[in-house]
Amino acid sequence: MGGITFADWVRWFEEAAKRRGLDDDPPWWAAASLHPAVVRSIQRFQTGENGDGASLISKGAQAGDPAYLAAVRLFVAEEQNHARLLEQLLASSGTPTITGHWSDTIFVMVRRALGLRLELMTLMVAEVVALRYYQALRDGTTDPVLTDVAGRILADEQRHVPFHSQRLRDGFADLPRVARTAAAAGWWVLLLGAVGVVTVDHAAALCQLGVRRRRFVLDVVALFRSVVTEVLYSSPDYEISAEPGIASRCGSYEEATSA
Ligand SMILES: [Fe+2]
Ligand SMILES: [Fe+2]
Repeated sequence: MGGITFADWVRWFEEAAKRRGLDDDPPWWAAASLHPAVVRSIQRFQTGENGDGASLISKGAQAGDPAYLAAVRLFVAEEQNHARLLEQLLASSGTPTITGHWSDTIFVMVRRALGLRLELMTLMVAEVVALRYYQALRDGTTDPVLTDVAGRILADEQRHVPFHSQRLRDGFADLPRVARTAAAAGWWVLLLGAVGVVTVDHAAALCQLGVRRRRFVLDVVALFRSVVTEVLYSSPDYEISAEPGIASRCGSYEEATSA
């Protein structure tokens, strides 16, 4: 493994939590009424953010690395804060949350049935789709509160991708190349299925946010390709892009997606 340890991740998650504690919440009173399609879309993502993380924490505990478990708990707390922010956003525009959505129910069932490595692969698909989705939310509206909320969540999601990449890369390090290639094939099937569901299910919202469905798919595919390469095919002495590298990584992502 490179020089970054899960103790480093604990420190970065704690620093982010400390910054959140110092920041005021978005000015909920300034929220505008959102387009109904965007509201429906946010409601669905809010349910996805709203898990208790018990399954992942349990598997993280079984992994036998206290630092990793501590980092997982902090990661889960960030996701729960996303659910809170989206709930407040919906409330400020006069809209309730929903109790669940079929796509999220299936996603959670699949994740819980898997071991840690497969759960993280499934979770990573959601993280990559979420990165592009929150970028669309942040950039596709004139509502300052929505832009603020989406920007805060996006900053966290940009940390989650390399966090999961590091654990997955460790998990695949000892497998032969043929096994990693098989894993890559299955992972791509999962990603393409998920991005297909999201682009159909959220088509009206993406349209309102000014993102063509084809553009959304291509951007997610481009980002996912870099994740697959990093996790499954990078050399043993390659270091996962972490806190200092996130800006350049996501900078290149944004450059790629703004072309
Ligand atoms: Fe999230
Ligand atoms: Fe996330």
